[in-house]
Amino acid sequence: MTPTPTDQPNVTALLREYALPSPLGFGQELAPIMYRADYVNGTWQAGQLIPFGEVNINPAATCVQFGQQCFEGMKAYKVAHKRPALFRPEANFARFARSATRLSMPPPSPEVFADALSQLVTAFEAFIPSGSGQSLYLRPTLLGLDNTFAVKSSERFCFLLLASPSDAYYGDPIKVMIERTHSRAAKGGTGAEKVGGNYAGSLLATGRCIDAGFDQPLWLDAATHSEVEELSGMNFMAVINDELHTPALSGTILPGVTRDSIIRIADSMDIRVVERTIPIADLLTDIINGSCSELFSCGTAAIICPISEIGDEDGARMALPETGKMATHLKKALLDIQEGRAVDPLDWTIAATDASGLLARLS
Ligand SMILES: Cc1ncc(COP(=O)(O)O)c(C=O)c1O
Repeated sequence: MTPTPTDQPNVTALLREYALPSPLGFGQELAPIMYRADYVNGTWQAGQLIPFGEVNINPAATCVQFGQQCFEGMKAYKVAHKRPALFRPEANFARFARSATRLSMPPPSPEVFADALSQLVTAFEAFIPSGSGQSLYLRPTLLGLDNTFAVKSSERFCFLLLASPSDAYYGDPIKVMIERTHSRAAKGGTGAEKVGGNYAGSLLATGRCIDAGFDQPLWLDAATHSEVEELSGMNFMAVINDELHTPALSGTILPGVTRDSIIRIADSMDIRVVERTIPIADLLTDIINGSCSELFSCGTAAIICPISEIGDEDGARMALPETGKMATHLKKALLDIQEGRAVDPLDWTIAATDASGLLARLS
């Protein structure tokens, strides 16, 4: 299948009239264009840019009835780059393919995924905000379209690439509430994939946590409710005795691209990284006795966000002695690469406008 670039007159007209709002916030402003490709008769068809808007989905479709959908979160960065750059897009593509396969959906081909990214980012290039921490947040999405009340997979699917010119997710350090009742993911489930159901199942706890004066739940393992896993949209890290500790990938944690990048950056700075089981009781003891000096969360949207407080819904709360010393150091190193200010020793960034280079990276 050869993707055909499309420049529909209405897409061009929409962009001609477009102006960025201020302030942007995160994920609030949606780009006026999107990309769509369809999977019909066992093959991905060529996609195209179309005006952003509601898509026609039957209420009995498997994505609506059974949550047969998955998505990704990635960014195009301008700041010091000559042309907007993507960060490790092959890692997002690989995770998207794993999520799709887990839900019995055909991942888009590398051609479709690369075409979507290069067409959309190139068309929207003039509007990508260029302050540090700002970006074009990109949301690849895959939906099962067939109508059926019988529990079975669709045979027709639709791939969309949506975009949102954005600021960073959180401006300030966050407070996390240890979630002792609900679970985000269980072994053998879909916690390591980026599927909508994981997030739907987290919303009630998030509401309780906000009512209790926190920002995000800190999820524990489903089997014992004793081991730290991650936040609802970010991975979790702790600085203990000047080492970086993070829960090992257990199959129930999303393998974050940011988590992996931070581990490699920390390694290159001779910071010892320990991926292990972190019992919540031990972590709280380490905070009380002073060996844990810092907690932070990390993810594409939030980048690196210090955690200033950890506590229980109706119990003790603990402030961290240092909100962000190592987090600030690592965030600077990561953003310097993502935003094009530093050498990129591992070739993590690639110009989104380089369609053939991008396809080679994804193939
Ligand atoms: C549950 C969850 N954990 C971790 C992350 C961080 O992943 P990444 O660094 O790839 O954005 C995300 C964001 O996608 C997430 O939704």
